[in-house]
Amino acid sequence: MDDHKISMEKIVSLCKRRGFVFQSSEIYGGQNGAWDYGPLGIELKNNISRAWWREMTQLHDNIVGLDASILMHPRTWEASGHVENFTDPLVDCKKCKTRFRADHLEAENLEKKLCPECGGELTDTRKFNLMFKTHIGPTDDNSSVIYLRPETAQGIYVNYKNIIQSNRMKIPFGIAQIGKAFRNEIVTKNFIFRTCEFEQMEMQFFVKPGDDDEWFETWKKQRWEFYKKYGIRTEKLRWHQHGKDELAHYAKDAYDIEYEFPMGFKELEGVHNRTDFDLSRHTEYSGKDMQYIDQDDGNKKYTPYIIETSAGLTRNVLAFLCDAYDEEKVADKGNADDWRVVLRFHPKVAPITVAVLPLMKKDGLAELAKEIQNELKEEFPTSYDQAGAIGKRYRRQDEVGTPFCVTIDYDSKEDNSVTLRFRDSMEQARIPRAELIDRIRKEIKNYTRA
Ligand code: GAP
Repeated sequence: MDDHKISMEKIVSLCKRRGFVFQSSEIYGGQNGAWDYGPLGIELKNNISRAWWREMTQLHDNIVGLDASILMHPRTWEASGHVENFTDPLVDCKKCKTRFRADHLEAENLEKKLCPECGGELTDTRKFNLMFKTHIGPTDDNSSVIYLRPETAQGIYVNYKNIIQSNRMKIPFGIAQIGKAFRNEIVTKNFIFRTCEFEQMEMQFFVKPGDDDEWFETWKKQRWEFYKKYGIRTEKLRWHQHGKDELAHYAKDAYDIEYEFPMGFKELEGVHNRTDFDLSRHTEYSGKDMQYIDQDDGNKKYTPYIIETSAGLTRNVLAFLCDAYDEEKVADKGNADDWRVVLRFHPKVAPITVAVLPLMKKDGLAELAKEIQNELKEEFPTSYDQAGAIGKRYRRQDEVGTPFCVTIDYDSKEDNSVTLRFRDSMEQARIPRAELIDRIRKEIKNYTRA
């Protein structure tokens, strides 16, 4: 270890070494813009998505869930404006063939049409649609074109009437969805930050026109609180309001929650006031009336406004990893072991909650440890490790962010007590085995990052 500061290289290396995230199709040289989640990565991703789902649905009586399909009728994307507007401005270098986003180039390069890499001549700017296009059925002509959805939101809008009718929803209400989205991104650097295949956690909240500004503020607040609640340090978060030139084609107002990644502050989630744009367009393109009949307001008919909270799940995984990453000096012996790598995850998102470690494999300690792990398994995600010195085993757990270790030693056999070791402080407490589950539950509930 060198300067003991976080870097993207360190995160990528830890993710591979410990089984969080692997490059897709690595044995074939890797697939750009696609990543695979390993045993710990999928646990982390599931914990974040579960936390979000719980926050949105379980804690709100007026928000219900949906899981719409990725393939939708192609007219959906004409109505939504994606066929026409979901584009990036592109230029290519005629000499070195590198492709750039025109809006990411220095003004001088753009004006003089000069490649920033090799000085070659750049092509004119052209629009590049980010939607992945494929064909459905046995023909591959224009009549069979279908898109991989570039956002989950549209699956919610086209189902909004079904949900009102089947679940007797009344405005204001929301629909939450987690799922894959696909974008043919030109630049996919920074690990899982910007990828071609990713997951979104989106909630669309339907309100009466005129009430939208107030709900917009409410949702901004709630989404900030979510990150705070699950342990993201607020000094690493900030708001960014979209300027007129940044606003998406559907938005009246939009704020991003930005997180300070190793490459700087970048968007983590967007809160958007999408007005009645989407539902009005679906009325126009489908011929189906998407208006709401407000029985609480004299059966008045109107097209609801939509406040959207749109977070990247896979981008959240990166933010949670970066935020948790720490290198801490724990000794002064002048060697690499003086430092530990520790992921300070909130216990509710940590892939493993408790690791069970017998001091020795022999003398019945391993059997006792297994027995205790079996008790804990019913309550928490656990792991078991009996290989190597206990100090090394603690370090291995620190590196993947396990908040609690339970060590079973010779005294445990005599008095039924165990050592509970805390990841952040490295402190240890001797407690009766019978109190273990309750104690861990309490520690999780009261957890705050030091
Ligand atoms: N429905 C609105 C919408 O999709 P967006 O700002 O384009 O809005 C929302 O995307 C979130 O989805 C972003 O804040 C980001 O977290 C995530 N996201 C977007 N494109 C992504 C990509 N190529 N790779 C990973 N995450 C992405």
